[in-house]
Amino acid sequence: ATAAAGEGSLRLGFDSVPGSLTDAVVVPPGYRAQVLAPWGTPLDADGPRWSDELALTPELQARALGMHHDGMYHFPLDPAQASRDFLLVLNHEYIDQQALWAPSGGPAHADEGARPADEVRTEINAHGVCVVRVRRDDSGHWTVVAGDPHNRRFTSATPMELAGPVRGSDRVHTAWSPDGTRVRGTNNNCACGYTPWGTYLSCEENWPEVFINRGTQTPDQQRLGMPAGRGRYGWETARGGSEGEFARFDNTPRAASAREDYRNEARAFGYVVEIDPYDSESSAFKRTALGRFRHEGCWPGRVVEGEPLTFYTGHDARNEYIYKFVSDKRWDPRDANRPGERYDRQAIGARYLDEGTLYAARFNADGSGDWLALTPESEIPGGGPAGERTLGEVFGDQAGIIINTCDAADLMGATPMDRPEWGTVDPGSGEVYMSLTNNSDRTAEGTEPTFTDGAAGIGALGAGFDTAPVNAANPRPDNDFGQVMRWREEDEPHRFAWEVFLFGAPAGADDDINRSGLTEASEFASPDGLWFDQRGESGEGILWIETDNGIDKGRDNAVARATNDQVLAVVPEAMGRGDTRRTGQQLRRFAVGPNACEVTGIFATPDRSALFINIQHPGNWPAGDDATRASEGQVRPRAATVVIQKEGGGAIGV
Ligand code: FEO
Ligand code: CA
Ligand code: CA
Ligand code: CA
Repeated sequence: ATAAAGEGSLRLGFDSVPGSLTDAVVVPPGYRAQVLAPWGTPLDADGPRWSDELALTPELQARALGMHHDGMYHFPLDPAQASRDFLLVLNHEYIDQQALWAPSGGPAHADEGARPADEVRTEINAHGVCVVRVRRDDSGHWTVVAGDPHNRRFTSATPMELAGPVRGSDRVHTAWSPDGTRVRGTNNNCACGYTPWGTYLSCEENWPEVFINRGTQTPDQQRLGMPAGRGRYGWETARGGSEGEFARFDNTPRAASAREDYRNEARAFGYVVEIDPYDSESSAFKRTALGRFRHEGCWPGRVVEGEPLTFYTGHDARNEYIYKFVSDKRWDPRDANRPGERYDRQAIGARYLDEGTLYAARFNADGSGDWLALTPESEIPGGGPAGERTLGEVFGDQAGIIINTCDAADLMGATPMDRPEWGTVDPGSGEVYMSLTNNSDRTAEGTEPTFTDGAAGIGALGAGFDTAPVNAANPRPDNDFGQVMRWREEDEPHRFAWEVFLFGAPAGADDDINRSGLTEASEFASPDGLWFDQRGESGEGILWIETDNGIDKGRDNAVARATNDQVLAVVPEAMGRGDTRRTGQQLRRFAVGPNACEVTGIFATPDRSALFINIQHPGNWPAGDDATRASEGQVRPRAATVVIQKEGGGAIGV
C-alpha cells in the first residue's frame, strides 16, 4: 500500500532559497549547478566549437543542439550505468532570432519581404528534437559525447511518418505526400513523455503559427489559430528550394496544379510524435490517435500487466481541454524496454498508440469527473450544429474527429481549463498531477461565456470558448497565477475524482487569491513543468514544480517582480488527506533561474544524484560552464540543460 506523506519518512532536506533576479542559477547551499549541452553544441567530434561569433548555417545547425530546450527524458544504454551515461532526448521548442543571427546583427527581413532561404533553413533546423549521449566522470562533471553514433537531430524538415487514424486520410494529402502518409518535420516541440517500451514522446504545441492561410480558413485552422497574414518567422516568404520546401508553409488554397497544393500541410502537425532513441536509423511516427491540437505533453499513467495503457495530455491555450488516451491493447510486460538494444520499437508503439479511445475531461462541481469519448458513435448532448446525433455524423470518420479534436470536445461538453501545461503521474497511487498555468480569459462567476469569431455558441464548428466564467476546477477570475490539479481514476468506467492541489499566488495577496497560504519562501506563479519523483519502495515522492512567469514575457505581477522563474518541491500527501493550505506550507523553493528565462524540462537520474532542468530563453546567460556564475557583460544568450548535484554526491532534495 502507498504510504501517505506525513506518515512516511521522506522529508525535504534543504531550506527554501530566496527569490532571485540575477543572471545566474541559484541553488541551495551544498549544491552546484553545471551548464550541459547549450544550443549550438556540436553533435560530431569535428563540429565547430561555440563562440559568440559563430555564424550558424543550415548544415551546422542540423548537426548541433537546437534552440530553446524544453521537455526531455533519459534513456539508459547499460542499466548498470544508467545514472552516469545515457541518451538525453530533448525538445527545441522555438527560436530567439536575435541570438541566432547575432553575428550579422539580426534576422534579415524579419517583418516584411522575402526571408533568405538559408536563414529559413537554419531556423527550421534550430527547431525539433535532439538525441545526444551524455556522460558523467568520477569528479561529477557531465559532458556531451560528441561523435556518439546515437547522436541525431529531428528538425522541422525531417521526413517522418503519420500513424493512426489520420494516416492515409484524404484530409492530409499533399503534393509531397499524395497518399497522406508522410510529412516533413515536427515543430514547436514543447513538453514530452515516454513509453514503457523505451521510446520518447515529443509534443507539437504552437505549430499553427508557422503556417498561414490567407483565404477562407477551414474550421480546424480557425479553431487552432492559424495566421491569415505573415507566419511567425515568415518562412513561407522564402524563395527557391524544390518540392514546396517553403511554399508548404502557405496553406492558402490556390488554383494551382496538384504539384503545388499544400493546403493540407498543417494537418500533419499538432500531434504526439514517437521517437526511438536507440535506433539512429529509425523514423519518427506521429501518433495521431492521441488527438490534434496544441499539445503540451503526454504522460503515461500507471502501467499494470493485463490492463490497457493510459496517456494523459492537454491543450495549452486559454479555455482548452485535458484529454486522455486509452489503448485497446493490454500491457504485455514482454514489450518492456530492453535498454541499449536495437529492435523495432515503433512496431510496439503501433500496437499501443495507434488503436484506442481518446477522451476529453469534464470536471464536475462536486469533485467528480467524466471522461467523454471522442468516437464516431459518441452521442452529442443536445445535438450537433446541424442537428446531427453523433460525432460521426458531424466529422465523418475517426480521422475527421482527430483533425477537429477541439470541436469534437466542445460538442461533448468538456470543461474549459486555465491553460493545461505539464502533467505527471505518481506511479504508486496512479494519481495524476497537471499544471494549469494562468488564464486572462477566465471571467467572474455568473458571466456568460463568449466564443471566438463572434460565434453564437460553443457548437459552431471552428469556434471555441473565447472567455469562460469560473468553474470549480478553475475558480479564480482573471487567473494570473495558475494552479496544480490532481485526479485519480475511479473504479466506475470513465469516471475520476479531482481536487486542486496547490494555488500559485504572491505572498502578499488576499486569502481569496493566496488560497494555499504561500509566503516569500514559496510564492510562485504560472506553474508549468512537473515531475513526480518517486523514492524507494514506500511510494512516497517529491513533486517538482517549474514555473514560466517571466516579467520579460510581459507577465508583470508581484511574483515576477520578486523572483525569476524557479523550481519548487513538495512531498504530497495522498489525495483527500491533504489540503491546499498545508501543501502550501510544505512547499519549498529549490532553485531559481537566470533573468528572462523560464525553467522547464525535468527528470533526475535513477539514483537521484543529479537533477536535470532546462533554462529556456535566457536574456544574458550562460557565462560559462558554471551555471551559478553571472556574466560581467553581455553574452549571446543560449538555452541550456543544467545539472544540479550535491557537492560530494548523494540524493538531491533530501
Ligand atoms: Fe510550450 Fe505550453 O508551453
Ligand atoms: Ca466549436
Ligand atoms: Ca510549457
Ligand atoms: Ca508556459
